[in-house]
Amino acid sequence: MHSLRNRLTLVFFAITLTAVGGIYLYVVPPLESRLKAEKLRALSVSSGAYSGQIIDAIRRNIDSPIVDRIVRQAADRAGARVTLYGVAGDIRTLRLFRISDSSVSLETERIGERAALDAARSGKTITATEARNSGRIASAARSLLVNGKVTQVVVFSQPLNDVTNNVALIREQILIAGAVALLFAVIAGWVVASALAQRIKRIERAAKQVAGGDFSQPIPVDSVDELGQLATAFNEMQRQLAHLEGARRRFIATASHELRTPVFSLGGFVELLEDEELDEDTRREFLSQIHAQVVRIQELTTNLLDLSRLESGSLELTPEATDLCALASEIGGEFLAILAQHGSSLALDVPAGAVTALCDPDRTAQILRILVDNALGHTPVGTAITVRVTSGNGLGRIEVRDQGSGISDDELSRIFEPFFTSDDRQGAGLGLAIARELAGQMDGTLSVDSAPGQTTFTLELPSHSDRPLSS
Ligand SMILES: Nc1ncnc2c1ncn2[C@@H]1O[C@H](COP(=O)(O)OP(=O)(O)OP(=O)(O)O)[C@@H](O)[C@H]1O
Ligand SMILES: [Mg+2]
Repeated sequence: MHSLRNRLTLVFFAITLTAVGGIYLYVVPPLESRLKAEKLRALSVSSGAYSGQIIDAIRRNIDSPIVDRIVRQAADRAGARVTLYGVAGDIRTLRLFRISDSSVSLETERIGERAALDAARSGKTITATEARNSGRIASAARSLLVNGKVTQVVVFSQPLNDVTNNVALIREQILIAGAVALLFAVIAGWVVASALAQRIKRIERAAKQVAGGDFSQPIPVDSVDELGQLATAFNEMQRQLAHLEGARRRFIATASHELRTPVFSLGGFVELLEDEELDEDTRREFLSQIHAQVVRIQELTTNLLDLSRLESGSLELTPEATDLCALASEIGGEFLAILAQHGSSLALDVPAGAVTALCDPDRTAQILRILVDNALGHTPVGTAITVRVTSGNGLGRIEVRDQGSGISDDELSRIFEPFFTSDDRQGAGLGLAIARELAGQMDGTLSVDSAPGQTTFTLELPSHSDRPLSS
């Protein structure tokens, strides 16, 4: 009973059983009583239509053989048994005696007496059914009035066998059809449920494979129904998980590789330093190399930590109203020495007033450093750099533009991925990944536009005036 297949089959069975039972219990009984009522009505009509001659004969006191003939004729015309009763006694001691009967074979059996008595008492036409050994009989009794007094009652009667036989036949047919419908429902239910169960099982198997780390087997999508849509959604989820898993593996491999290089290099220098016969200049040279590697490891670990905190959403940001112009000139100042070394120039293009944005000033400064550092590091010596601050559409904007050789279309789609680097400089490829994550967490965006001779990174942040302060 725990399987979907059995439950669905049972539901199909129960629905069909209810439908068949409903027809059997609520359709057949009213049908039977309607047919009976119809029969009684027809008898009542016949009694009205064919008793005229009988009344006439009684009124004229005609001999009984002729009355018998008239009664038989009326019976033939009405297709019913006709019995003529005489009425004796007063209203309380009312008795019936048979004068004539169209039926010879049933001569001994007195039919419709109860209805005849009621008719004699009320002076109306009374219909009734009664049980006999041969089955139920329907009768209509009509009182005949002579001088305003009921002197005779004529009873038209017919067996109800045809009605009961017809109803029994209908019952039997319903039962047979019901049994066939039930069988069909069970088979159809089982087939449909099996097909559904099989498809669900397939998704379950695929889910188990994914849980076991195997993302290689997509589920075949064989229909557009809800299960087909589930399979499509599942395949999409599997594809994304495979992509994430691949990214995770690449990330770990690259991160460990990036860390291993400076650590090995450090080990090598330390070994060399152990040589006691080293002259002072070489020793100083080695120490400066060691220092550079230590700085690189520090930067790398800080960046990795930042990135992992950003991706897990645990980096705390404190947004506040920040003047982007002041921030741009502060960062420009930080780079003066490096710019001089590089033979490059950095032009600040800021409007007269302040451009305020709602952002974390330290993290915005970090993004700017990453962008200026790239504009310096990934361009030829002496390249001119411009930092421009603008505002509009509820946004504060900082553009970092350089006149380097640009980024190819191929690389452009990948530069924001962690560890993507063009390798022309010893970077880990984490700068832009961190910058974009930071921009996103401050409700901003970081985009790039590059062509040979001009590359522009644009950081857009919500203006203080347009958005409510949140932390
Ligand atoms: N201004 C630029 N001009 C040309 N290429 C750029 C520029 N900025 C970024 N790139 C390209 O994008 C890549 C990724 O930059 P990103 O800052 O993420 O890493 P990185 O500078 O190589 O290393 P890291 O910043 O971690 O030291 C760079 O390797 C370079 O190929
Ligand atoms: Mg960089």
